[in-house]
Amino acid sequence: MKVLAISSSPRIGGNSDLICDQFLKGAKESGHEATKINLAKQKISPCMACDVCRGNGGICVQKDDMANVLQQLIDADVILLASPVYFYSICAQMKTMIDRCYPRYTEIKNKKFYFALTAADTFDALDYATNDLRGFLECLPDSYEVELFDGSETWAKGDVKGKTVLAKAYEAGKNL
Ligand SMILES: Cc1cc2nc3c(=O)[nH]c(=O)nc-3n(C[C@H](O)[C@H](O)[C@H](O)COP(=O)(O)O)c2cc1C
Repeated sequence: MKVLAISSSPRIGGNSDLICDQFLKGAKESGHEATKINLAKQKISPCMACDVCRGNGGICVQKDDMANVLQQLIDADVILLASPVYFYSICAQMKTMIDRCYPRYTEIKNKKFYFALTAADTFDALDYATNDLRGFLECLPDSYEVELFDGSETWAKGDVKGKTVLAKAYEAGKNL
């Protein structure tokens, strides 16, 4: 299977990024094709709601890195969406990517989704951000959420090391 992790934190090697790495490590060891996209390394501007894509077969007028990201989302079988919690929501990089799926979001179908969310606060702090991601899934045909990797109670870069969530992500990737 094609396994894709979207790592949205601006902190490369940060807590949610490390969860992605463990998930992909497990997936790779089980023979799957495992790819990570760090949104921090992509140039993706916000959706302008011009609606041109609705009349031209789903081609965005903005010529940035999103066309490639969107194609990879469409091609994947399994998708991990990873975000730090910022003001109790997903971070701007993840939300920007989600909105830019607008031209072709109905083609992101038949996927298994995993979520990874990190926050300084305790588990409840993930609630709104979980709902943000669930709202996106609600719009995708025949796609469903399998598991949420709980990266709560992490603050500094690397705080997730030694927490059970890393082993859980690895196991989930391994058992795909
Ligand atoms: C702009 C900003 C807003 C944040 N807002 C919250 C918040 O509302 N609740 C919380 O528990 N942690 C908050 N945090 C802490 C991060 O969620 C936490 O450091 C997390 O481990 C970052 O994950 P990362 O290493 O994957 O980027 C915030 C951090 C930043 C930089």
